[in-house]
Amino acid sequence: MRCTLPLAFRQFWLNWVLRLNARCDRRNWASCFLKLLSGATKLPSLKVAKRAIPISIPTGPAALGTGCSTSRTVWMLAYHRASCMTENLRSDLVPKTLEPVRPLLLTEMFDARRRIAKSVVRTPLVRLDLGPGFPDIHLKLENLQPTNSYKLRGAVNAVAMLSESERQLGVWTISAGNAGQGVAYAARQAGVPCTVVAIETAPASKLERMRALGATLITVPYEAAWRALGDRAYQGVEGTFVHPFDDHNFIAGHSTMGFEILEDAPGTVAVICAIGGGGLVTGIASALKALKPEIKIWGAEPETAAPAALSFSMGSAQVFKDWKASFVDGAGGQSLFPRMWERIRPVVDGSIVVSLEQTKAAMRLMAEKVRVIAEGAGALALAAALTGKAGQGPIVAVVSGGNVDLAKFCDLIVPESK
Ligand SMILES: Cc1ncc(COP(=O)(O)O)c(C=O)c1O
Repeated sequence: MRCTLPLAFRQFWLNWVLRLNARCDRRNWASCFLKLLSGATKLPSLKVAKRAIPISIPTGPAALGTGCSTSRTVWMLAYHRASCMTENLRSDLVPKTLEPVRPLLLTEMFDARRRIAKSVVRTPLVRLDLGPGFPDIHLKLENLQPTNSYKLRGAVNAVAMLSESERQLGVWTISAGNAGQGVAYAARQAGVPCTVVAIETAPASKLERMRALGATLITVPYEAAWRALGDRAYQGVEGTFVHPFDDHNFIAGHSTMGFEILEDAPGTVAVICAIGGGGLVTGIASALKALKPEIKIWGAEPETAAPAALSFSMGSAQVFKDWKASFVDGAGGQSLFPRMWERIRPVVDGSIVVSLEQTKAAMRLMAEKVRVIAEGAGALALAAALTGKAGQGPIVAVVSGGNVDLAKFCDLIVPESK
């Protein structure tokens, strides 16, 4: 058959199918097609779609010019679609091999800083004046990021580092609330959808804020979320997975905080930050140890969830068997993943364990002295600094987040005796 349709029509048709292809993910071509017909979803721009195509086929006048019949065009499209579907099926069956753990390069960290500069705040370092007899402590106020936690740094870098075709599939992550906000924020900036597998007991304010940033939430029990972090998969969730801590580019984003700390307080002798999965501490430590190797970097964990401290004492990645949920919902994992131990061990000096009471006292102190609202995880570093285990300073304690329901915050900072 050699039927020649008007060029403009064929150009439009081919463009439309290519854009449809870019929009579709994993075997849902038919449902996507129906959705598009019903106007329920929109197509991405052709510029993006062209880059998303995994095989090269002639497009535009080259494919549709006088020498190219409609039947050939139809055949090419069918071939193209089949190739994409086979590729999707193949990638479903064969798990993507994980990039081996490797140290962050200084150039990667500098590049990350430039890449995220317009999206994140260069947060202030403020002195916490506690008078004589106390360590010299400065607070790095990451609670002042647009999403009120440091996670934005890693999320913006990780989403920016995806290939265009990976990003166009939409992104998803697993979160207790802060990584989810970071990834949702970055996805919104990139104009792509975001799904968050969120821990169902996360504070209402964290869940609401992820939704407000446009994320679709799937709420699950803590154990299911922790398992999914290891599996890097959650049944029924599609798109490109952005791991909230075991991700080289995510960690590179966090490293940018290290540069800011040294610029603002070059005499710093120790930096402390909370450990959850271990991405934050690895990022900061990678930058600081590269620039000032003698600096000490400590993690901070609550007594109810301290697998990193246990791992340091045992010399290998450990499961924390007595894990308990607490108001410190952003940090303290059920285990330290072996891959994270590999990242942490060369650059981090240890992890300081604090009680829940010490953490509350640190939250209260920050509210009183510097009018800062820190969530439980965000107060762990100060609580650790106040134990004296990191020395007399100058110490930087990273206030990693301030996302806490206000009523809960008020309850937590009221002294026990009242
Ligand atoms: C406020 C806050 N601090 C610290 C952490 C721990 O970070 P990481 O998982 O990178 O160790 C988290 C994790 O979500 C967090 O939300």
